[in-house]
Amino acid sequence: MTSTLEARELVVVREDRRILDGASILVPPGEAVAIQGPSGSGKSTFARALATLLEPDAGAVLLGGLDAQRIAPTQFRTRVAFLAQQPAMFEGSVLRNLEAGPQVHGKSLSDVRASELIRAVGLDEPILQREARTLSGGEKQRVALARALANEPEVLLLDEPTAALDPDAGERIVALLRELRARGLSVVMVTHEESHARALGGTLYRCERGRLAIDS
Ligand SMILES: Nc1ncnc2c1ncn2[C@@H]1O[C@H](COP(=O)(O)OP(=O)(O)O)[C@@H](O)[C@H]1O
Ligand SMILES: [Mg+2]
Repeated sequence: MTSTLEARELVVVREDRRILDGASILVPPGEAVAIQGPSGSGKSTFARALATLLEPDAGAVLLGGLDAQRIAPTQFRTRVAFLAQQPAMFEGSVLRNLEAGPQVHGKSLSDVRASELIRAVGLDEPILQREARTLSGGEKQRVALARALANEPEVLLLDEPTAALDPDAGERIVALLRELRARGLSVVMVTHEESHARALGGTLYRCERGRLAIDS
């Protein structure tokens, strides 16, 4: 079951500036949402606040109608997976990276599941044995996605997942996000690239001066 993720009127003030100025969003179960906007408009701040990695000065984040402050952080972060622009790989093989999340919850990852995950992100099994830190940027993005999927999240929240990639690799990541959404995940993608925002094929929000509005 996937839950609705919502941000209500988030305000973040830094150095007397309202970096977020009442930013709201609604992500119904299984929806794709792209947030597009110019550099400095507050997209990353919003993504981090929505992921509860940053506490807003006002407003609330809700998951399944429940205030995120009432949900244990480890549980929230399992249900809402946050992927940074250039995800850091843990030391060791790709397989070790995929096992890390379930291990935190005292679970093991079967070989069959590891193969499923790696194929779900468009990679082949031999990569499981490779040293994760030696992969290309596009491969790391995919492994980070597989690593997030190992925790069976409800929502994928990505900040500029394509910005560090060449155009082809970027387009493949967007295509992959569309596929994951088709399997029932909610996807929230922040990007400054309008073409990628549109290619995601869901609701498009525009971020300007710390506020979000649906773009039609
Ligand atoms: N911790 C901080 N302290 C002061 N200013 C910040 C901080 N974080 C972000 N900002 C400023 O807030 C604005 C929005 O930043 P950010 O959310 O990173 O925008 P975007 O991701 O859209 O480029 C920028 O002007 C940035 O310099
Ligand atoms: Mg940013």
